[in-house]
Amino acid sequence: MKDPVRIAITGAAGQISYSLVFRIASGDMLGKDQPVILQLLEIPPAMDALNGVVMELNDCAFPLLQDIVASDDANVAFKDADFALLVGARPRGPGMERKDLLEANAAIFSVQGKAINDNASRDVRVLVVGNPANTNALIASCNAPDLDAGQFTAMMRLDHNRAKTQLAQKTGKHVTDVEQMIVWGNHSATQYPDLAHCKVDGKPAFDLVERDWYENDFIPTVQQRGAAIIKARGASSAASAASAAIDHMRDWALGTDEVVSMGIPADGSYGVEPGIMYSYPVVCQNGKYEIVQGLDVNEFSRGRMQATEDELREERAAVEHLLG
Ligand code: NAD
Ligand code: LMR
Repeated sequence: MKDPVRIAITGAAGQISYSLVFRIASGDMLGKDQPVILQLLEIPPAMDALNGVVMELNDCAFPLLQDIVASDDANVAFKDADFALLVGARPRGPGMERKDLLEANAAIFSVQGKAINDNASRDVRVLVVGNPANTNALIASCNAPDLDAGQFTAMMRLDHNRAKTQLAQKTGKHVTDVEQMIVWGNHSATQYPDLAHCKVDGKPAFDLVERDWYENDFIPTVQQRGAAIIKARGASSAASAASAAIDHMRDWALGTDEVVSMGIPADGSYGVEPGIMYSYPVVCQNGKYEIVQGLDVNEFSRGRMQATEDELREERAAVEHLLG
């Protein structure tokens, strides 16, 4: 039996977590042979609801679940955490853009970045889900000076998965036939889902779909999918977001042959200078991610990649005071 790992989850009484914590406890994230300890963080008014979630987790009698810590103190929840999923934040409602949440949510991530810095395992891997996810991840990493900025990532996997499904459905294939999907930039309406390197069933995606569909249907559909779900459900995506968070952490921890999209610190690759959390194509092996280098970037892609970079720099400027 492996030693248990500690997984901190914030916003643990919220919608996303109501799917996420059960799937993690059942082994979907780190494997059916990896015992887990869940360390759940909420704000004081949500502690009753969180206790209800804890009761339900206990009632599942999950073989892998070794212990549950429920707290409203970030120093307790992040103590020795090997993984941290920062979900807790206010979601947007109809008619709002994700960046409208910047002010409401930014302060949360400076406090939590510091608590991670002071308490978590030195090897902690952090995924920020709470919106605006990329800039919140930047705030958290800047407030954790003793950790490597690369230990902080932002969730782009939902966009990546959405893009794969749109293309699979259009071409009459299955998502498992789609390879080398890339979503660049920000988890926002400026994100750039790029088909230039994508293959379906071994064939270039551009041989299978028309340019008009790509530019005027596929790209906006993926960019606006979050808003479409809010309109349809009256609440933001939850189970699909939890599923994407599990995909992101599983691939980071256990590796994958697939190219996946992750929001990570920009390092100059593809001309995106440091200072923002930008989504790149990566491969994951041995517990680490690495940017896929050397892809050709044409003029259309360059313009889209620049627009989403510009938005991330604007978001950064708005929270400069929280970057430490
Ligand atoms: P929710 O309102 O149902 O749950 C959020 C929970 O966070 C609440 O229970 C709240 O009490 C808690 N919370 C608030 N401040 C906190 C703090 N300081 N510490 C700990 N917990 C805190 O929202 P949800 O639907 O679960 O969504 C959570 C976030 O995830 C939102 O920001 C949403 O926009 C975002 N989201 C991101 C993606 C993505 O792809 N990156 C996808 C879906 C949703
Ligand atoms: C999503 O993409 O579904 C989430 O980020 C929620 C939102 O505000 O769009």
